[in-house]
Amino acid sequence: MPNDFANVDNGGAGLPGSPVDPVRLGFPALLAAFGRTEPIAAARELRAGNINTTYLAILDGGEKLTLQKINRHVFKQPEMIMSNIRRVTAHLRGKLPPDAPDPSRRVLSFMEKADGSMIEWDASGEPWRCYRFVEGATAYNAAVKPEHLCETGRAFGAFQRDLADFPIETLSETITGFHDTPKRYSAFIQAVEADRVGRRAAASRQIEAVRDRSSLASRIVDQLSGGALPLRVTHNDTKINNVLIDDSTEEAICVIDLDTVMPGSSLYDFGDMIRFGASSAAEDEPDVSKIDLDMGKYEQFAKGFIDKTRGFLSDSELIAQPLGCLVITYELAMRFLTDYLDGDRYFRVWDPEHNLIRARAQLRLLEDMESKYDAMTSYIKENIVLNDGSRDQSRR
Ligand SMILES: Nc1ncnc2c1ncn2[C@@H]1O[C@H](COP(=O)(O)OP(=O)(O)O)[C@@H](O)[C@H]1O
Ligand SMILES: [Mg+2]
Repeated sequence: MPNDFANVDNGGAGLPGSPVDPVRLGFPALLAAFGRTEPIAAARELRAGNINTTYLAILDGGEKLTLQKINRHVFKQPEMIMSNIRRVTAHLRGKLPPDAPDPSRRVLSFMEKADGSMIEWDASGEPWRCYRFVEGATAYNAAVKPEHLCETGRAFGAFQRDLADFPIETLSETITGFHDTPKRYSAFIQAVEADRVGRRAAASRQIEAVRDRSSLASRIVDQLSGGALPLRVTHNDTKINNVLIDDSTEEAICVIDLDTVMPGSSLYDFGDMIRFGASSAAEDEPDVSKIDLDMGKYEQFAKGFIDKTRGFLSDSELIAQPLGCLVITYELAMRFLTDYLDGDRYFRVWDPEHNLIRARAQLRLLEDMESKYDAMTSYIKENIVLNDGSRDQSRR
C-alpha cells in the first residue's frame, strides 16, 4: 500500500501545514465576526483540500480554530450549504452517546456570528466559516494501513446510520442533478454529436464503451423514484481524506468536508468510496494494465461500512451497494469523456489528453468491477450473516 503521500497531520507531532501571516489574511476581523477577539498567536495554512482554502488559527490561550474560505466558484450558494451543514451536524451531535469522550472532536462544530449566521463575507466578497480544529488526528490522503480503510468504511457507515432518521425534506439540493446519471448521459450524447473541438475520432473506443452501458445510467435513479431504494442523506465526497483518524487510537473519529451533503442514495457514498479508495491506481493512470479493483481494499471498506449500517440499512439496500460502485465509476468516466469532447471546460487538465486518460482509466476500473461484481456482492452477503446479531454498538 502506498505510504509516500503527503498526509496532513493535525497536531500529533508538531503543527500541521505551513505558517502564514494572520493579519495579512484578515483573520482578526474574521474571527471577531465569530465572537473571537483574543489575539492570534499563530496561523497555518493546511495544504490538503482541493476545493476550499483551509487555515488553522491558534488563539492566545491555545484554542485552535479552523478558518476556511469557501470556494465560491464551486459552491455558488454558501448560505444554503451552511444551512444543510447546520442541520446535519446538529443531528449527528444528537446521536453521540452521553458518555462519548470529546464530543467536539467527533462532529464538526461551527461558530455562529451574533446574528446566528455561520458565514462571514470578507472585504473582497469571499465567504468564510469558522469551526473547531480537531487536534491529534490525521486526514490521510492514502491509507498507510489496511485498518484505515476499514475505519473509513466505519466512519461513512456511521454517517449513514446516524442520519437514517434525518428529515430529508429539510435538506436542500445544493448542486442540482449532481447524480442525475441519465441527465449526464444526455449531456454526453450531445457532446458526442456536437464534437465541438474535433476530438470524437480520438475517443471513439471510449465513446462506444459508454454507449454500450447506457442502461446503467438510470439504475439508481429509477430505484429511488420507484421506492425500491430509500432517499438518504448523502455525503457525496467519501474520500479517505475526508475522515479524521485519531493519532493514538487509530479510530475514525470525525467525518469532515460536509459541503456536498444532499439528498441521495447510500449507494452513491459507498460507490465513490470504493471507486476512489479501492482502485489499484490513480484516477488518471495512463497505463490501464495497472488498474484494477483491489478486492483486499474493497473488503476492508465494506467490512467497516457493514459493521456500522447493518440493521439500519435494510439487507437488500446493503446487498445493492456494489451497483453504486458501477454507476458512480460509469458516471465519472462519462463526465471526463464529455469534458474531453467539449474542450476541457470543467476539469482542470495538465495536458490535452488528460480527460481522455481519466475516462479510459475509469472505464478500465469499471470493466474490472463488472467482472468482480458477484464477488463484491457475495462479500457483503457473507458479512451480513457474519455480523448478524453481533452488531458492535460500543464504538462510534
Ligand atoms: N475541523 C478540522 N480539524 C482538523 N483538520 C481539518 C478540519 N477541517 C479540515 N481539516 C483539514 O483541512 C483539509 C481540507 O479540509 P476540507 O474541509 O476537506 O476541504 P476541501 O473541500 O478543500 O477538501 C482536510 O483534509 C484536513 O486535513
Ligand atoms: Mg476534503
